[in-house]
Amino acid sequence: MKLREQLEELQNSDFYPFHMPGHKRKMISEDDTYLTGHDITEIDGFDNLNCPEGILLEEQKNAASLFGSEECFYLVNGSSCGVLASIKTVCKSDNPHLLVARNSHKSVYHGLYLTGAYVKYLIPESFTDYSFCGPILVDAIKNELQDNTYDAIVLTSPTYEGVVSNIDEIVAVAHSKDIPVIVDEAHGAYLGIFGNGEYFPKSAISGGADLVIQSTHKTLPALTQTALLHVQGRLVNREKLKQNLSIFQTSSPSYLLMESISDCIHFCKENKEKLIGEYEDNLRYFYQKTNELKNLEVVDFSIKKRKESDICILKDPGKIIICTRDVNLYSGKDLYDELREKYHLQMEMSASDYVIAMTSIMDQREDFERLICALMQIDEAIENYKEKTLNTENECNEKQLDKASISDLSIQVVMKIKDAIDVSEVRLVKLEDAIGKVSSEYVFAYPPGIPIVAPGECITKEIYDYILNQKKYGMNIIGLKCKDFVDYINCVM
Ligand SMILES: Cc1ncc(COP(=O)(O)O)c(C=O)c1O
Repeated sequence: MKLREQLEELQNSDFYPFHMPGHKRKMISEDDTYLTGHDITEIDGFDNLNCPEGILLEEQKNAASLFGSEECFYLVNGSSCGVLASIKTVCKSDNPHLLVARNSHKSVYHGLYLTGAYVKYLIPESFTDYSFCGPILVDAIKNELQDNTYDAIVLTSPTYEGVVSNIDEIVAVAHSKDIPVIVDEAHGAYLGIFGNGEYFPKSAISGGADLVIQSTHKTLPALTQTALLHVQGRLVNREKLKQNLSIFQTSSPSYLLMESISDCIHFCKENKEKLIGEYEDNLRYFYQKTNELKNLEVVDFSIKKRKESDICILKDPGKIIICTRDVNLYSGKDLYDELREKYHLQMEMSASDYVIAMTSIMDQREDFERLICALMQIDEAIENYKEKTLNTENECNEKQLDKASISDLSIQVVMKIKDAIDVSEVRLVKLEDAIGKVSSEYVFAYPPGIPIVAPGECITKEIYDYILNQKKYGMNIIGLKCKDFVDYINCVM
């Protein structure tokens, strides 16, 4: 079957996307029939993204005004190229030092590789109840900056799961030492327009972050690969930033992608109040209905006023996390598969004990109803079979161990990422024999693409166990080489 045929089959099916892109395969205007008709190059009158002076400059200014930033750049190579250009720009010397959240996306690690940066990791808070990372605490940054200085701080907020860090205070601490803050807000583009600090958390732009990167395609109605980079303040050299953007972006930016960003921004600007009002109503309705679930848990920090280790958790409600941790022998992957196979609801991802449904302003009440209805039925079935699924004490303990997140792993950095990748001698070692050795490879579950082990880090027994657990739960582990059903990993010799 050709790709076109497979895509048409999906388009004509009743599968509903609780995943990216944020347009949810719906049109935002009646005349979305452009494709080849609008696929041009930099002909007269259509400007040039790499040095915009006309229509593209105007469109970027329009985006900056809607998001409240000083300057905004269209990205057609996803947030990834914005992250790379940002990291390259803030590195001032040949030996840059960066303070980086360990739960960063792989594009941040690629930035560390390309710049040869020394890195100190900030470990996100861990939850006692959930296997995803919490926020980065302001105090962790304050402590780190007491005796050390860095070229920049790099954080992800919101995370894939929607956890938001206190960017306002983090920025205040960093700026008191003239250190710029890069926020990977790939998952929070819509917060830049709709985040008011009430139901929806605010964007890092309003928190004063120097560089903010947002994937419009993830949470807004725009085509895949589209993204924005915002810059503000005096700590970032904007000429250098533009230069770096032209390195990491294609020299032939697609007008279809740029048109899609522009349409999305005009659409959001013109319909702002209506869109956000309906979306908030739908989400409130969803959380209220699913609060009745007896076995599955839809994580809602706002209802429970949950406080973990005395930190108040801020979460983007648009990222719906459905947790299976209280259901014995029923993993996140089991729920993901059941929703897909039985209910034709495609989730964004599954982890060991939860799934993520990504929602957007394009989801309608009936789309939420379909998910509510499926969850209610699954929950009811679990209730009916509860006796059968009751665990023994041992199985409970085992489940307890499986809950670890990246935050719970102790990371031992032995050498720079660049040195571990560019090293002249690497050897493919059986994973079980690699314990105690230094990895020359990334190993990560995809999605979300956060390395479990990065090049230059020691493969500890704890990390080995974590990888095995992730595999046991059906996670897609990337970076290992499999030969005759045995896993191998490249190690530094
Ligand atoms: C946290 C985070 N940052 C950056 C990216 C890269 O975004 P893009 O796919 O737009 O390049 C992703 C992609 O999933 C991500 O999850």
